[in-house]
Amino acid sequence: MPCNRKCELECCGKNHAHPAKVRQLECKFKKFQFATSDSLLKKYLTSKLFEELKWKKTNYLMTLLDCVLTGFENPDSSMGVYAGCPECYDLFGDLFDELIREYHGDFKKSAVHPPMDWGEPGQLQDLDPEGKYIISTRVRTARSLKGYPFNPGLSYEEYLEIEEKIVNAVTELTDDLKGQYVGLRDMTPDEIDLMVDSHVLYKESDRFLNAANAYRYWPAGRGYFYNEDKTFIVWVNEEDHMRVISMQEGGNLGEIYDRLAKAIQQLDEKLEFERHERLGFLSMCPTNVGTGIRASVHIKLPNLAEDMGSLEKIAEELHLQIRGSGGEHTASVGGILDVSNKRRLGLTEREVIQEMNDGVLELIRLEGSK
Ligand code: ADP
Ligand code: ARG
Repeated sequence: MPCNRKCELECCGKNHAHPAKVRQLECKFKKFQFATSDSLLKKYLTSKLFEELKWKKTNYLMTLLDCVLTGFENPDSSMGVYAGCPECYDLFGDLFDELIREYHGDFKKSAVHPPMDWGEPGQLQDLDPEGKYIISTRVRTARSLKGYPFNPGLSYEEYLEIEEKIVNAVTELTDDLKGQYVGLRDMTPDEIDLMVDSHVLYKESDRFLNAANAYRYWPAGRGYFYNEDKTFIVWVNEEDHMRVISMQEGGNLGEIYDRLAKAIQQLDEKLEFERHERLGFLSMCPTNVGTGIRASVHIKLPNLAEDMGSLEKIAEELHLQIRGSGGEHTASVGGILDVSNKRRLGLTEREVIQEMNDGVLELIRLEGSK
């Protein structure tokens, strides 16, 4: 099928990757084979699989190079792969399926993600009613609009189109979700820094995303929507087309999760999201497919944190992940840890939140018994 989009290289008009791009890919793969890397890319992209995938190209002109460049350039990646567009999950499925299986707790190729089920948010309790451990709680999900590639494949016009569609939808939200949208192009660097430091906004400095060509045309189409209390936030065109976030101080998970569930219910009526029949909601990163939910607490666990090695082990057993207090790839400041669910696929929304709920309660119990 001839390409109907503009190639960054002169288009060869064929349904395979441009020979120059394949040559570039081969060179980078050769170099990567000598690199030391614990990434899942390194583990699963064998020479045999590489040969099978290297000529493939999606209808959005995404090739293996667009998916693995981030991992080649950053051998310290944990995954090392981003999808260039939804079709990559199928066309390069022999690679993606392995990463997805390993990240999301043995989600096999034959497994199918369950239909959406947010359960009864009111049944969740406050994780820390006395306010002894938890500073704040945040639940986010990722969504991609149907009919577009992800960052590596988006054109300038598409960034603006996606922004417009999302802004039209979010500005119609009601009740405590009502708010305003601000484009990053209308903010000063100091204003952006302030919002990033207060955990409301994203930054442009992630080298993993940068290597994946996720920052092209910045700040075009980028911005965020927030309600008056800044307890409901929507990130536009960061890693994903949309990150929908509910957060507030303290540990009232029920209230926070309920707000997110209501927001998604309203947004579902206004926007059409990309959903894969086996992998659920699709996202640029294979860690975020399925429910797209990451539910986290900023928490102080001074006793357990004395031995970070064994805390990491306990967290893994509870299917939890530990990050620094400034987000992914940051260090913990002032003893504050970011503890969240790790897997987002193969479980319903209700089950994901329950896993985080139970895990955090167990950590608090262990901390108290030390
Ligand atoms: P995500 O992948 O969920 O967007 P990141 O690790 O990139 O998460 O973090 C994004 C921002 O959200 C960072 O500023 C981080 O500190 C903030 N954040 C994450 N969890 C919480 C929380 N429970 N309370 C307050 N801020 C949080
Ligand atoms: N690409 C990075 C890596 O492989 C991050 C993966 C998960 N994080 C994310 N923001 N999607 O280490």
